[in-house]
Amino acid sequence: MTLYLAPLHGVTNKTVRNEWFSHFTGFDRAIAPFIPAAAASRPEAKHFRDIAPDAQSGVPVEPQILAGSRDALLECAARIVELGYDEINLNMGCPYSMVAKKGRGSGLLADPSAVRSILDVLCSAGTFKLSVKIRLGLEDKRDMRALFPVLNDYPLSRVIVHPRVGKQMYRGTVDLDGFAEALELCAHETVYNGDIFDYERFLSLRSRFPSIDSWMIGRGALMDPFLPEQIKTGSRPKDELAKLRAYHEGLYARYRRDLYGPGHLLDKMKEIWSYLGHSFGYSGAPRGGAAPPGILKAKTPEAYLAAVEALFAGTKIDP
Ligand SMILES: Cc1cc2nc3c(=O)[nH]c(=O)nc-3n(C[C@H](O)[C@H](O)[C@H](O)COP(=O)(O)O)c2cc1C
Repeated sequence: MTLYLAPLHGVTNKTVRNEWFSHFTGFDRAIAPFIPAAAASRPEAKHFRDIAPDAQSGVPVEPQILAGSRDALLECAARIVELGYDEINLNMGCPYSMVAKKGRGSGLLADPSAVRSILDVLCSAGTFKLSVKIRLGLEDKRDMRALFPVLNDYPLSRVIVHPRVGKQMYRGTVDLDGFAEALELCAHETVYNGDIFDYERFLSLRSRFPSIDSWMIGRGALMDPFLPEQIKTGSRPKDELAKLRAYHEGLYARYRRDLYGPGHLLDKMKEIWSYLGHSFGYSGAPRGGAAPPGILKAKTPEAYLAAVEALFAGTKIDP
């Protein structure tokens, strides 16, 4: 089985990826958050620093591109290849209207001829393998019926499917009947992605889709960092709290070193806690929650660290 860490723009950057992979196990590979093709004109852009090979601490990473003009796509792919990568993922799922309106991300899902043009460009470069990450459609899952015949015409290494439509954003539920249809339509290796928030959910998805051998998890792993290990091995470590503490300390230290000023540091850490709070009984971002209240309210690093310490000291989360 192959497990992928999903790309979460602004969240699973190199700092989080490196720290996550130093403390937890289970993932085989991470897809990095998208690089807009237009960023290729600025080689110094932070997007390229995020995937610089010497910044990865051995984490296997696959960069992702968000479409742009033909020239920008080629230039962006060339920059990624120059960094030593031989596989690139194309983002065809980003649901935000600013992106979709320009015919990028999920905006491509309802436009098979635009997809064909982009795949022509990327697949003819011949210097890297291409995978794609899609939703079922832009507004309607029937979009995939015209999309898959196009995807099937190209030598893609895999198709990652998040079974929502673009206009849903992250609302509502994943459409498993829609995923079953995608599986029938797709001639490539298919990866399931979406709403794997706990082990029971994974087991039920695996029993419904026994032919799937590759899974991608984003928010669920940020909420419960032991979930990938549990999926891989069937068990969880004994010292969960100590590992979470070490993860937090590592992340805090890296962000304090890399970010300018306490405001940015606290914003980033609160964002992490909007997911990680779930491990301490808070509802967590995917279900509309926020960081645990003491952490959310903290205005200084000292207040923040005191709130975190209180959370660790007062909580017993080992099963
Ligand atoms: C804050 C946020 C940022 C995201 N950024 C990206 C991105 O850069 N590229 C991408 O393909 N998907 C992106 N996604 C979608 C995730 O990769 C994933 O498909 C989605 O969260 C569903 O998987 P999950 O339920 O396991 O989190 C993002 C999702 C969120 C919530």
